[in-house]
Amino acid sequence: MLVSVSILSCYDNLIDSVKKVNKSNADYLHIDVMDGKFVDNEKFPIDITYDVIESSKKKIDLHLMVDSIDTVKKYALLKPDYLTFHVEIIKDDSIIKYLKSLGIKVGLAINPETSIDKLMPYINDIDLVLFMSVNPGYGGQAFKEEVLDKIIKLKECINDNIIISIDGGINSETIDKCKCVGCNMVVSGSFITNNDNYDISIDKLK
Ligand code: DX5
Ligand code: ZN
Repeated sequence: MLVSVSILSCYDNLIDSVKKVNKSNADYLHIDVMDGKFVDNEKFPIDITYDVIESSKKKIDLHLMVDSIDTVKKYALLKPDYLTFHVEIIKDDSIIKYLKSLGIKVGLAINPETSIDKLMPYINDIDLVLFMSVNPGYGGQAFKEEVLDKIIKLKECINDNIIISIDGGINSETIDKCKCVGCNMVVSGSFITNNDNYDISIDKLK
């Protein structure tokens, strides 16, 4: 299982948290950009995101909770390994082509109440689907079980090359359900960052 660590809950001490991720067994550093419009919270403006990426020794898994494709293009200039934005804001596949031309792997995130039908026009062009198992905006929320059925349904109609990632409420109790439905990557925040030694929780998820 690939583990991507969200440092959203460590916003007051980001660089210290990035250093802990660097020292850990994590596969990715997950950065939760919020524009105050797509979600009501506002986090990781571009300058802070740049500093975090510069301090990271892990691959970057950038999750954009933003309402504009122009903002997606702006963050793409930071050249993350994966750039994931929300299927709720996509109009056509030109943004996917643009990101690919920069050599960035592309993910589409999908909110708990959005139908997987929205993903289908783009599914052969993307590298990752990020299923939200909470309403986006805040860390530390409870896992929404309803997402599991959506993952099972999507997996029936896609090839195995696409990474299935899940974000929100992932801990030692919910991880087995994610494994059961075929997720190959999990994003976890507070469960990991609540301990000083991040590997205590990362090793339980892997
Ligand atoms: C929520 C974010 C998540 C969140 C995960 O909008 O996308 O990445 O930080 O935090 P936990 O694991 O605490 O739910
Ligand atoms: Zn996230």
